Amino acid sequence: MNIGFVGTGTITEAMVTGMLGSTLEIGGIVVSPRNGEIAARLAAASNLVRIAADNQAVVDQSDMVFLAIRPQIAEEVVTALRFRPGQSVVSVIAATDRAKLGAWIDQRVEITQAIPLPFVADRGGVTAILPPNREVAAIFAALGSAVECETREEYDLLAAATALMGSYFGILERTTGWLAQQGMPADKARAFVAPLFLSLAETAVRHGEMPLEALRQEFSTKGGLNEQVFEDFERNGGTTALTAALDRVLVRIKG
Ligand SMILES: NC(=O)c1ccc[n+]([C@@H]2O[C@H](COP(=O)([O-])OP(=O)(O)OC[C@H]3O[C@@H](n4cnc5c(N)ncnc54)[C@H](OP(=O)(O)O)[C@@H]3O)[C@@H](O)[C@H]2O)c1
Repeated sequence: MNIGFVGTGTITEAMVTGMLGSTLEIGGIVVSPRNGEIAARLAAASNLVRIAADNQAVVDQSDMVFLAIRPQIAEEVVTALRFRPGQSVVSVIAATDRAKLGAWIDQRVEITQAIPLPFVADRGGVTAILPPNREVAAIFAALGSAVECETREEYDLLAAATALMGSYFGILERTTGWLAQQGMPADKARAFVAPLFLSLAETAVRHGEMPLEALRQEFSTKGGLNEQVFEDFERNGGTTALTAALDRVLVRIKG
């Protein structure tokens, strides 16, 4: 299969890097000439990657076309392209739903939306896709894992969950900051806290069959320190703040 990318920016670089190191059987990867520096870097990384003359050449030379441009220019770029009937189009463009894309595309194509995250570069990214699509899911599975959404509602909810990435680092930042304030060297604090959080995340993935409530209880001795911190978190409005933030970001995602 030939895979094309219209828009060769940060997320395309991550996806192509992941694909090049994966077990996917790819005939070739064709990228658009913008951004020139990233396109040149990807072409230098593998003989599989070539730089097309323009966006239309990407579409013409690909079985599956990824649209990875910013939402502000999406309409102008996509309406200028001619697709082949039945071609597979995967859009990672934010805030642009399938109905909008369908109206901009001149042919009956198969449109899938996806939310790849930078971790796909290391083949450790989980990617939400809408609607379920075997070929697209197989590609993202090779870049980590794929979650196929049946409905727009499910997809929007996962998009809301991705908005927690900054807060995850924020919790690490505040925790290591507090440790540093108490006199611990900041680098030592980070060297402890970051692997601790990694182990917790790995445990949640490894024991996918176990309810999160049960994991919380297993990691909280009755009357112990962990139980006390979670009770304080709840009592002082932690859950309320988290839920309200997710509610508010979902409203924004739904437009
Ligand atoms: N970054 C992420 O983690 C992430 C994750 C999921 C989804 N997304 C979505 O993916 C899209 C791209 O994001 P990004 O972070 O990769 O942005 P980006 O780094 O700005 O990449 C966009 C690329 O589009 C190129 N471009 C500009 N005009 C073009 C045109 N007319 N034709 C073709 N390419 C053109 C830009 O080239 P120049 O540099 O030459 O202007 C730039 O390299 C956005 O819609 C974003 O919301 C991003």
